[in-house]
Amino acid sequence: MGRRDGQRDGWYGTVGRPAFFALPPEASHRVATSLLSLPMPWERIGGVVDDPSLEVDLCGIRLRNPVGLAAGFDKTCRHLGPLGRLGFGFVVGGTITREARKGSAKPRIVRATERRAIVNSMGLPNPGAEAAAENLARASSTAPRFASVADEDLSMAIETVELLAPHVDGIELNASSPNAPWRHDPAHMTRLLEAFRGRTDRPLLLKLPPLTTDGDRTTVLDLARAAMEAGAHGLVCSNTLPTEEPRLATGRGGISGGPLTERTPRNVSDVAAAIGRAVPIVACGGIFTSEDVRRCLDAGASAVQLYTSLIYRGPGIVGSLIRGLLPGRILA
Ligand SMILES: Cc1cc2nc3c(=O)[nH]c(=O)nc-3n(C[C@H](O)[C@H](O)[C@H](O)COP(=O)(O)O)c2cc1C
Repeated sequence: MGRRDGQRDGWYGTVGRPAFFALPPEASHRVATSLLSLPMPWERIGGVVDDPSLEVDLCGIRLRNPVGLAAGFDKTCRHLGPLGRLGFGFVVGGTITREARKGSAKPRIVRATERRAIVNSMGLPNPGAEAAAENLARASSTAPRFASVADEDLSMAIETVELLAPHVDGIELNASSPNAPWRHDPAHMTRLLEAFRGRTDRPLLLKLPPLTTDGDRTTVLDLARAAMEAGAHGLVCSNTLPTEEPRLATGRGGISGGPLTERTPRNVSDVAAAIGRAVPIVACGGIFTSEDVRRCLDAGASAVQLYTSLIYRGPGIVGSLIRGLLPGRILA
């Protein structure tokens, strides 16, 4: 991280990030989520201003702005209240599965600071659908909420959706993680989406796997088309890229953040072309600046999601991105 980044991100760049980064990633995540439980002026810390020009309709859900929080930051769905108060246009909790999961062996998150990246092999640790539903019922709804779900088994997936859907504005089916073995299987995804449609009238987003090799690209674009035919209301494009990482217990993980910045708008425009812009696309991957948001919107996205830049730029990132998107503002 350069000196300029530290200055741009204010107190977080000079004090917050060095303090968090002095701890191992999972420990700093626990500190961050404990802080979120405190009664703090999160709206002021987020620094978001509202402007009618920034409002977005995402599958019939009105968003105050197009910048959302991606799945994985709040795997318990306990902290979506304060996270929404930071000013996100929408927040995604989970990924949640029917039964609680412990996730992969540790270490399972490492930072690659020089690339402003994170590599994780979390393996979807989560408290299970019942506990997550209780957390959602208890948490205040401060921004439209989505629950990310990923069961493989059809009946478990249906139960998860039935438990979570009453507490959220939409469902995001995670077909993107290395933990979704069916991620390249349009027939299974179609069965899941059709079953969900019979159980909830909430909008369904499908989070696509990363478009890596040319072969993958064709498969993922086929999956996007199949998702639309199966009634998905929107697509999220996309997730971490698989990579070797000897510091992880599993030796491999998914990289997020900086290395995805250039790819995301390209992927969005490929997906937009493949589906003829029939449903909204949410861009996800490496979004750090207002310019990154703008490029994704110009490529055909209706909204964006971020995770890694929240770690690198701190809770003021939402306000910083939003201020840069206001008409007549310099991009930041
Ligand atoms: C530590 C970590 C955990 C994640 N967990 C999930 C998850 O449970 N479900 C999911 O769909 N994506 C998960 N993701 C992926 C993010 O939602 C996002 O797609 C990816 O990190 C790319 O966005 P970014 O570059 O803004 O981080 C996780 C990412 C990280 C870094």
